[in-house]
This record gives sequence, C-alpha cells and structure tokens, in this order.
Amino acid sequence: MSALIRVAIIGCGVIGTHHAIVLAAHPRFEVTMLVDSSDDAAEQLASVLVIEHGAPLVIVSGFEPVVVEGAPVDLVVVCTPSGTHIDIANATIAAGIHTIVEKPLDVDFAKAREFAALAAAATARGIHVSVISQHRFDPASVAIRGAMADGRFGRVTSAVASVAWWRSQDYYDGGDWRGTWALDGGGAVMNQGVHTVDLLRWFLGRPADVHARTGLLAHERLEVEDTAVATVRFESGALAVVHATTAAFPGLTVRLQVHGTTGSAIIDNDRLEYFHAAGAAGEGNSAGGAGGVPGGGAGAGSPWSTENCVCSVRV
Ligand SMILES: NC(=O)c1ccc[n+]([C@@H]2O[C@H](COP(=O)([O-])OP(=O)(O)OC[C@H]3O[C@@H](n4cnc5c(N)ncnc54)[C@H](O)[C@@H]3O)[C@@H](O)[C@H]2O)c1
Repeated sequence: MSALIRVAIIGCGVIGTHHAIVLAAHPRFEVTMLVDSSDDAAEQLASVLVIEHGAPLVIVSGFEPVVVEGAPVDLVVVCTPSGTHIDIANATIAAGIHTIVEKPLDVDFAKAREFAALAAAATARGIHVSVISQHRFDPASVAIRGAMADGRFGRVTSAVASVAWWRSQDYYDGGDWRGTWALDGGGAVMNQGVHTVDLLRWFLGRPADVHARTGLLAHERLEVEDTAVATVRFESGALAVVHATTAAFPGLTVRLQVHGTTGSAIIDNDRLEYFHAAGAAGEGNSAGGAGGVPGGGAGAGSPWSTENCVCSVRV
C-alpha cells in the first residue's frame, strides 16, 4: 500500500460525491479513480473535486478496471444503487481491496448472508470490509448505548422510532432505481428508515417478531411503500413501534425514544433531546438486572459516558 490510501469511488451520485469530497480533503487519502455508468456523473464529480496529491484521476464507466492487478486502488467505496452493492463488493474483496459499502448492504438477504461469510474470510486475510451505519457514531447514540450496556436504564422495556420525512415525486423520478424492488429494495423503511431501524436493533437487540403495514399514499409509479408502520417484539421481551414515511410534508424529524425501568432517552434529529438514567448499574431497577443489551458501548471512560450522572435533561 502506498503512503496515501488510494480510493476508488464507485457510483458518483449524491452520496458518492459526499464521500469523494471528504476523502479528497483528508491528508491520508487520495481519490484516484471515479467509476460511474454515467459519464456525466463522473465528470461532474471530477469537476468539483479538489485533488491536492498529484496522482492522475482515472475515470471509468464500470468497476472492472478497479479490480485488475496494478490498479491504483487500496480502498473502494461502493456508492451505487442498493441492489448492486454486493455484486461489486464481491469483486473488490476478491481482488484484495479494502471495501466500504454504502447502506443498505444489499436488498437480498441470501446474498447479504453469503457476503457476510466472504467478508469475515477477507477480514481474516487483513482486508477491511464495512458497511456505512454512520448514526452509530453520533454522540447521542453512543451515550445511550453505553448507558444501556452499563445497565443504567434498568430493564429496557420499549422504544418508539419515527422517520417522518417528505420526498417529492421529483426525487423518485430523478433516479430510475429509486422506488424499485430490484435496486432500492424497499421504500421509506429500506432507504430512509434503515438508519433508525439499525439504531433500534443496536439498542434493543435481536427482534423476535414483526407485524407491519405499508402503503403507497403520496407518490406515483413506485413499486414500494412510501409509508410503513410496524410493531416489533424483541428477544428480550422489549416492544417497539416503528413509523417510516416519505409522505410527511414538509418533512419533520427523525425521532427515537427508548425506555427502561430506571431510565429513558430521546434522540431527535441525531441530538440527545432527553436523557434520564440511574447513576450506577441496576440502581433503582425494581425489575432487577440490566436490560439485555449485548456487548459494550460508551461505558466508563468513554468521552460520551454519562457515568455518575443521575440526570434528567431537556435540551
Ligand atoms: N449513508 C447515507 O446516509 C446515505 C445517503 C444517501 C444514499 N445512500 C446510499 O448510497 C447509495 C447511492 O445513493 P445515491 O443517493 O447517491 O444515488 P444516486 O442515484 O444519486 O447515485 C448513484 C450513482 O451510481 C451510478 N451507477 C448506477 N449503477 C452503477 C453501476 N453498476 N456501476 C457504476 N455506477 C453505477 C449512477 O449513474 C449514479 O450516478 C444507495 O444505496 C443509498 O441507499 C446512503
């Protein structure tokens, strides 16, 4: 690997542009290849990219030149439509290239499970493989997860997750993959709500069963839903309500509230709006025992720890 980490951006649309601009500005990375099936998209991104590190920028229309021996690439970021992610990532990890895949991992469970096994084998060979779940890094999410892992919410009993957004018809018409089963893999849940479902899963553990209703209520020509509601029962016994829509004009917030026997918290648009938790594991927890949140988080010593704080905060 060269001194700078050489990056290929595969898919130069909305999120590919974001990744490219951030990576091009970072002192340890250089963007060396732009890949897009649309020449216009790649050229447009090339025109706004500030390349400070001198390597010539290669523009290609398919990922194949990225995976050939000797291509100037150490890392790829897969930013193509969701239903194409794994086919591309399979090729890049087979070529020994570190691979970051935009969310969702893909739209097909069977392929996703096979990919998880391939990714584990690649990791064992020293190749990094990851999917973007950026909200797990939000200070609010980290603080809640840490407090739960420390038992400070007592038994986690319930959660309410709502993504109340608006997406215009132009948004769906603006990309022929949007709103399709094959390439979007779903609608308001799979595309927009997936981050909040990810946090719900991170906080409450494995779901045991889900009951849901979906509707297409404010858009035309979509195969998928623009509105979904669901109830979820987790293996811990905790219950949750999920609401995800792109039909809530003019677009409100993403809100996630979680509750336990000794604490509650609310995240609104990524910010910790409310937090109340016991000062130490299990304190005041009449149900006994920590709330069944597996693994660690922002525990003692973490900059986001709320350790020693019996607090009730409205921001
Ligand atoms: N993490 C986040 O918050 C976030 C935000 C937005 C989008 N995304 C995800 O990123 C992905 C792309 O979304 P977007 O909004 O940038 O879409 P987009 O339509 O703006 O961009 C996709 C680009 O990929 C190109 N493309 C399509 N098929 C290709 C292929 N086989 N090879 C090369 N290029 C190809 C298209 O020409 C287009 O330029 C989706 O999976 C989406 O869910 C994640």
